[in-house]
Amino acid sequence: MSSADIGLIGLAVMGSNLALNIAENGYTIAVHNRTASRIDDFVGMATEQGLNDKVVPEADLATFISKIKRPRSVIIMVKAGKPVDDMIEQLLPLLEEGDAILECGNSLYSDSQRRFEYLKEKGIGFLGIGVSGGEEGARHGPSIMVGGPEEQWKNAQPILEAISAKFDGEPCCAYLGEGGAGHFVKTIHNGIEYGDMQMIAEVYGIMRDGLHMAPGEAAEVFREWNKGPLNSYLIEITGHVLDAVEPKTGTPLVELILDKAGQKGTGIWSAIAAQQLGVPATAIEGAVAARSISSRKDERVAAEAVYGKPAGLGGAHVDLGDLEQALLAGKIVSYAQGFVVMAKASEEFGWNLPLATIAKIWRAGCIIRSRFLDQMSAAYAQGENTNLLMVPDFVEIMKTANGSLRKIVAVAATAELPMICLSASLAYFDSYRQALGTTNLTQGQRDFFGAHGFILTDREGEQHHDWPSTLEH
Ligand code: 6PG
Repeated sequence: MSSADIGLIGLAVMGSNLALNIAENGYTIAVHNRTASRIDDFVGMATEQGLNDKVVPEADLATFISKIKRPRSVIIMVKAGKPVDDMIEQLLPLLEEGDAILECGNSLYSDSQRRFEYLKEKGIGFLGIGVSGGEEGARHGPSIMVGGPEEQWKNAQPILEAISAKFDGEPCCAYLGEGGAGHFVKTIHNGIEYGDMQMIAEVYGIMRDGLHMAPGEAAEVFREWNKGPLNSYLIEITGHVLDAVEPKTGTPLVELILDKAGQKGTGIWSAIAAQQLGVPATAIEGAVAARSISSRKDERVAAEAVYGKPAGLGGAHVDLGDLEQALLAGKIVSYAQGFVVMAKASEEFGWNLPLATIAKIWRAGCIIRSRFLDQMSAAYAQGENTNLLMVPDFVEIMKTANGSLRKIVAVAATAELPMICLSASLAYFDSYRQALGTTNLTQGQRDFFGAHGFILTDREGEQHHDWPSTLEH
C-alpha cells in the first residue's frame, strides 16, 4: 500500500513542477491537492511528460498519507502564512512519530522556527525549506536551503539533492541548521535579489535618461557585461527583458511596462531582520525603499510637476566601463551586508550557518546565481572574515571598483537621477572604511539631552559632561 517515496500537497505551478522534477529523478511521488480537479490536471501533465508511472494521485488526505513510505516526508507547497498552519493541523492526526513536514514556500523564518518547535514536541519533524529558481528552477533544478531537524533532513536528503541544481556536479542543496535557518537564508537571498535587481535598474536609468540609449542598445551592453565579472542570471535576463517587443504595437516592451514594482514581502523581512539584528544592510533597505517609492506613481508624477524633470547628464561623460565596475562594487557591498546579517543571525539563534556552503548552493539554480558566487564561496572557504569587504580577493576588486561607483553616484546626483541603492552601498563602504567616524558628536548630543553618557578616548569608563541648561532659550 505504501508505495511512494515522498508526498507533495499543493499542486499550483511551483508544487506541480517540483513534483514532476521528483518523478523525473526516479522517485515515486504521492500528490494531493485540496481542489481535486488540480490533481487530474497534474496527472495529465505527468502523462504528457511520460512520468505518470511515478505518480500516485490521491484526493483523500488520509489515504494520501497512508501511501507514503515511513518515515514519511511530506512536502507542502501552499500559500505562506495561515494556510501552512491549517495544513499542519490537518496533517498532525495522520502523521506518525519520525515523519516530517517539508514546507517549501516563502515563509517567514520566525514562523518556521515556531512550527519546528511545535512539531518537535509532537515527535514530528518540521523542515522549513527555501526553494529558489522560480517555476523553471522548480521543474529542472532549484537551489534548496534546508532548516529543521537533522534526522529528518537525512531521510529526505537523497531526493532533495537529486532534484536540486548542480554546479560542477555538486548539488545546490544543503542543510543549514535547525528551526528557521533555511527560511532565514532564503529571505536574505531574496533581499540580495532585490538589491541586485534595483542596482541593475539604476544603471539602466543612467543608460535611458542620461545616455538616451534605446532598450536594444542597453540590452547589448548587458549582454557584453554577462561575459565578464557580472556574469549572472539576472544580468542575462535583463538583456532579454530589454530586447523584448510588445507584439501589438511593435514598441519595446519595457517602455510600456508600468514603473510600479510589486513585492511579496521577503525583501521587507530581510531588511527588518537586518535592523532587528543591528546589522546595517543599506543596499537591501534601499532596494525595498525603491520598490515602495515606485508604487507611489501618482505622487511622483505630481512631484515632477513641481520640481521639474531631471537635469540629465548635460554633456557629462559616462564611461560604460565605470558603469559596469560601479555595479560590481555595489554588488560586493550588498552581498557583504547580506552575509554579515546571516553571520549575526547564526550567532543570535545558534544556527551555525555555513557561509561558504550558502555561497556554494547559490551558484546555480537560484535567482541570484552567478560566477561571482563561486569566487565568494572560495573566499569564505578559506577564511574567517564574515565581511566580504575584508576578504583579500574582494579588497583588490573594491580598491579600484569603488572609484567607479563614486564617479557614477556623483554623476547621477548631478544629473538628478536616483540611485537609492548604489548610493546606499557607497555610503556604507565609506562608513565602513572610515576609522574616525562622526558619531562622537552624536554621543555628545545624547549626553546633552538625555545623560546617556559617552566614552572618552583617553580614559576608562562612561563619562558625562556638565552641560549648560537651554531652558532660557
Ligand atoms: C526565487 C524568488 C521567488 C520569487 C520572489 C519574488 O528565489 O525563486 O525569489 O521566491 O520570485 O519571492 O518576490 P517579490 O514578489 O517580492 O519580488
